[in-house]
Amino acid sequence: AWDQDSARSIIAGLAHLEGATLPILHALQDEFGHVDPQAVPLIAEALNLSRAEIHGTISFYHDFRTTPPPRRVIKLCRAEACQALGCEALVAELAREHGIAVDDHQAKADVAVETVYCLGNCALGPAALVDGELIGRVDADRLAALCGSQAG
Ligand code: FES
Repeated sequence: AWDQDSARSIIAGLAHLEGATLPILHALQDEFGHVDPQAVPLIAEALNLSRAEIHGTISFYHDFRTTPPPRRVIKLCRAEACQALGCEALVAELAREHGIAVDDHQAKADVAVETVYCLGNCALGPAALVDGELIGRVDADRLAALCGSQAG
């Protein structure tokens, strides 16, 4: 969980670096799984930058999350063979019918669906990896069911 005091000491430890914003953001995300909005004023103050500049950096790099990571991540293959078997239509249907956006790193959900490129299950695409288990010929309804409470 986010801890303001630990965040403070991580920031203090890196603030002397040239271009310290990115190293600090990465360190915070490594430690807490996300960069909490509460960190923004701390970083701004430590680096003598404006809050807007820190916000800008966080939103420019899509790897940074501002909400805690999902409890569970479902990997969905969107490489070539799975594309040929309809994974992009599946992604569209997930969004349209179930309100689940793939690769939405800011979603406040227990379960997230993220893109991967090839799970080695190409003959049985679209392929997904759920809790370490490969699932072949997955469809939007099945994925939505695996996402549980996120559906709707
Ligand atoms: Fe999807 Fe290989 S391309 S599993």
